[in-house]
Amino acid sequence: MRQVRRTGRRRVALLAVASLAVGPTLVGCDAGPADPDGPPLSTTASPNVRRFSPGQPGVGDPYFPTYGNGGYDVREYAVKVRYDPASDLLSGVVGLRATATADLSRFNLDLAGLTVRAVTVDGEPATHARDGDELTVTPAAGLPAGNGFAVEIRYDGKPTPLDNALLGAGGFRHTPDGAVALGQPESASSWFPVNDHPSDKATYDIEVTVPDGVTALSNGAPVGRSSSGGWTTWRWAERTPMASYLSTLVIGDYRVSTGEHRGRPVVTAVSERLPKGAADASMAATVEVADYLESVFGPYPSGAYGGVVISDNRITYALETQSRPVYSAGFFRAGENTSVVAHELAHQWFGNSVSITRWQDIWLNEGLATYAEWLWVEHRGGKTAQRSFDDAYAGSPAGVWRTPPGDPGVAELFGDSVYQRGAMTVHALRVTIGDDAFFRFLRTWATEKRDGNATTDEFVATAEQVSGRQLDDLFDAWLFGAERPARPR
Ligand code: TRP
Ligand code: ZN
Repeated sequence: MRQVRRTGRRRVALLAVASLAVGPTLVGCDAGPADPDGPPLSTTASPNVRRFSPGQPGVGDPYFPTYGNGGYDVREYAVKVRYDPASDLLSGVVGLRATATADLSRFNLDLAGLTVRAVTVDGEPATHARDGDELTVTPAAGLPAGNGFAVEIRYDGKPTPLDNALLGAGGFRHTPDGAVALGQPESASSWFPVNDHPSDKATYDIEVTVPDGVTALSNGAPVGRSSSGGWTTWRWAERTPMASYLSTLVIGDYRVSTGEHRGRPVVTAVSERLPKGAADASMAATVEVADYLESVFGPYPSGAYGGVVISDNRITYALETQSRPVYSAGFFRAGENTSVVAHELAHQWFGNSVSITRWQDIWLNEGLATYAEWLWVEHRGGKTAQRSFDDAYAGSPAGVWRTPPGDPGVAELFGDSVYQRGAMTVHALRVTIGDDAFFRFLRTWATEKRDGNATTDEFVATAEQVSGRQLDDLFDAWLFGAERPARPR
C-alpha cells in the first residue's frame, strides 16, 4: 500500500488538511443555512451579505477530532494565573488575539474543568457556555473572516489532570510542594482556555502568581518578578511561536540556576526534593548539548535555554516543553544522562520550531529526536549512529515491524515504532542519499519550516528536492509498510 504521495498529488493533500483546519467558510446568500443560535444576520438584501456560522468544535485532526477548534487562528496569548498550593485553587485571566478564518457567529475554545466567570470579545461582554471540554463563546456581533479579534476570559477552580488511559499522565497536577502542568498530546486546556492543537501556534506571555518563597517556572525568557501582599508574580515570555502542548507550568521548591549563553537567557531548575547531583549536572550540560545540535541542525531556534527536573513520581517521562524541557527525576537516578537532554533539545528544532500539522505525523518529531540521541552518543565517543541503527534493526520486536510509524494509530502514538523505527527511517534516508545530502537536508528542513507546521509528505518532498532522488519507495517501506524493510544500501 502506497502512502507517500507522488509529487503531483502532494499539493492536493496539503489543501485538504488546510481546509479541514479552517472549517467551512460561508460567504454569500446561498452558502448554507444560518445558525439558529447565532446573532441576527445582516438585514440588507444584498447578494453579498455575509452569513456568520459557528466555528467547528474541533480542528479536524483524524486522530483527535475534538482537539482544537475551527474558524480562527490565535496569534498571541497572555495567560495570567494565580495558584495557591495550600488550597489547590487557581484563578486566571487569559487574553488572546486571533484572526477569524471564517465568518464566525461564535467559536469554541478548549477548557477542561474550571469555571468560566466572564468573557469579552473586543471589550464587549460575550455569552459563553460549556459542554464538556468545549467552551463556546458567542460575541455580540459576528466576526468577519480576515479580521482580528481579542478575547478575554476570567475563570477559576481546582484544576484536574487530563490523564489519558492510552497515552499517560498529562495536564495540571497538584504536587506536595506546588504543581506541574505538562503533557502530550494535550495539557494546556487543563489550566487555561486555548485552541489546543499544534496546528495553531502562537506566542505566549505567562504570568504566574504564587505565595512568596515558592518558585514558578514556565516557557521562554524570564521577564521580571515582583512581590506584594505575600504573593510573588513570576513573568515569562515565549516569543517564538509555540504549540499549546509545549506550554508548561512548574510550581514548588526548586534550585534555580540562571545565566546567559550566546545572548539568550538560560534557566535550569531541579526540585529541592532531589539530592544535589546527577540531575543538576545534566541540566548544566544543556548549553553544551544545544551547541552540538546547532552544529548539526543549524541555529538554535528558541529565544531561551533551560530545563527543569521534577520529583513527582507520577510523571515518568520527559517532555520537550518549549525552551525549557521538563524531565522526571528517574532519568538521572543512575547518574548523569545527557542522551535524554539531547533528545528533548533536538525537539526544539523538530517538534517545536518545525511542528506537526496533525498527530499522525508524530514520527517527524520522535524519529528525528531519537536520531539526534544516536548522533550525540557517537559525538561523545560512544557507539556510532550506524551501530545504533544495526542494533535497532536486529533487535526490534515484531510489533515495531507491524506498526507503521507514519500511521501508528492513537494507541501507538508514542510507541517503539514511532521512536525506533522513526529513527531507523532517518538513518535509512542518510544511507540512501549520502552524508552530504542528508545533513544539507536536515538544515534545509529546519530552515524552511522554521516557526511553522509541516507534514510527512512535505518531509519526503524536501528530501527528494535536496538529494535529487526519487524516495517514495524508501519512505513507503519504512513509514507505511507492515513488515521489516530491506536493509538500506
Ligand atoms: N514525547 C516525549 C518525548 O519524546 C515523551 C512522551 C511520550 C510523553 N508520551 C508522552 C510526554 C505523554 C508527556 C506525555 O520526550
Ligand atoms: Zn521525544
